[in-house]
This record gives sequence, structure tokens and C-alpha cells, in this order.
Amino acid sequence: MTKNKVVIAVDGPAASGKGSLSRRLSKDYNLAHMDSGKLYRATALIIIENNINPEEKNKVEQYIKDIDFDDFIFENKKLLSDEIGKTASIIANYKNLRDYLLKIQRDFAYVKNNDKLGVVIDGRDIGTVVLPEANIKFFITASLDVRITRRWKELLSLGYDIIKRHVEQEMIERDERDSHRTHSPLFAAPDAILLDTTKLKFDQVYVLAKKYVEVFLS
Ligand code: DC
Repeated sequence: MTKNKVVIAVDGPAASGKGSLSRRLSKDYNLAHMDSGKLYRATALIIIENNINPEEKNKVEQYIKDIDFDDFIFENKKLLSDEIGKTASIIANYKNLRDYLLKIQRDFAYVKNNDKLGVVIDGRDIGTVVLPEANIKFFITASLDVRITRRWKELLSLGYDIIKRHVEQEMIERDERDSHRTHSPLFAAPDAILLDTTKLKFDQVYVLAKKYVEVFLS
């Protein structure tokens, strides 16, 4: 990515709204977009489909280093299941795996996509580790209750027959793992703009975020 292009990092916990914000920014400003959670989810799916126990760190890391994600179908609906989200969160604490995925993410931002006006990547450690030099960093939050309801509705709309209590349990466990793991835990970069989406509609969040992009581009 050349110097005058905008690089945006968006972080936040599960179902905070970071994906919707990133997609919309990418569409409106012609930015390349990567949902880095999908990389972790894709890794989880590959591990499970190849009968590798996600708890076996060495086996997971050994297997994953030969995977070429260029051929992977990131639109695969299986990636969105709670089981894959949970497995992704477990393997996300493996240092070598994170380093491998880090390179893919940085290449996406700085080597590929030079035809775009910039890049936006969302995840958990984008502003802190993946793109610490990003021009704009957002940290998106929402109350646990709101995030549970959002994720539950999303899973129902995808056809998963799931009770809200189960989504709540999974979300609490995932927040705990993602925020307290040893390697690249979720936290807001000191220079991140905090957006709490608990009481806001998506359009209101978007208007707030857009202002920062407009200021940067002006
Ligand atoms: O955003 P998501 O729910 O699709 O992410 C799935 C898991 O992947 C998340 O619980 C932790 C991991 N992840 C990560 O460790 N770092 C990222 N940048 C993105 C996701």
C-alpha cells in the first residue's frame, strides 16, 4: 500500500459490529477488506476436517504451515457456525500459527490490493499487532447482552437451531479466551477511536466512523 492510501484497523469482541462497519467502509471508499476472523475460522475448519485435534498445538501448527489460503472459499457458510468460532478462538493462542496468519494479513494490506484506494482489516489485534501503523484505528464495543442477541439472531437467520442461553455461554467463554490469552489478546490500541454501539443503530455508528475517514482523506 503506498503512502497516500488509507489503512484502517477495526477491532472488537464477537458481534460488536466491527464486520458490518468494515464492509460498509470498504464499499463506500473502494478499500480492500479482510475479515481476519475468517482466516482463523478457515484454519479451524481445515483442522477439524482433517481430523486434527485443535488442542494439539504442535500438530495444528505443523499442519497449517503448508496451507495455501489462496484457494480457500471464504464464503463457505460452515465458517459461521459457533463450533468453528470456538475452535478458532482456541487455536488463536498458538504463536506460530498467529505469525503465519500475520504475514498473510500484512501482505493483504501492503503487498496485494494496490489497485484499491486503501485497506480495512477487522479482527482482535489489528490495531495493536497486525497494522500498528494504521492511519485510523477503531475499537468497537457493545454490551454483552446486545452482542448475545445479535449473534443469536444471526445464527437463527443462518438456519442454526440454537438456544439463546447456549449463545450466551459461548460468548462469555470466547470473550474470556480472546481477551486473556498470552499472544495478541484483544485490547484497544492506545490511539484507537472507541465506538460503543450498544444503543446505536448501524447507520448511526457508520456516520460516526465515516467522519474520521473523511477527516483523514481531506
Ligand atoms: O471475529 P470472529 O468471531 O470471526 O473470530 C473468530 C476467532 O478468531 C476469535 O474468537 C479469535 C480469533 N481471532 C483472533 O485471534 N485474531 C483476529 N485478528 C481475528 C480473530
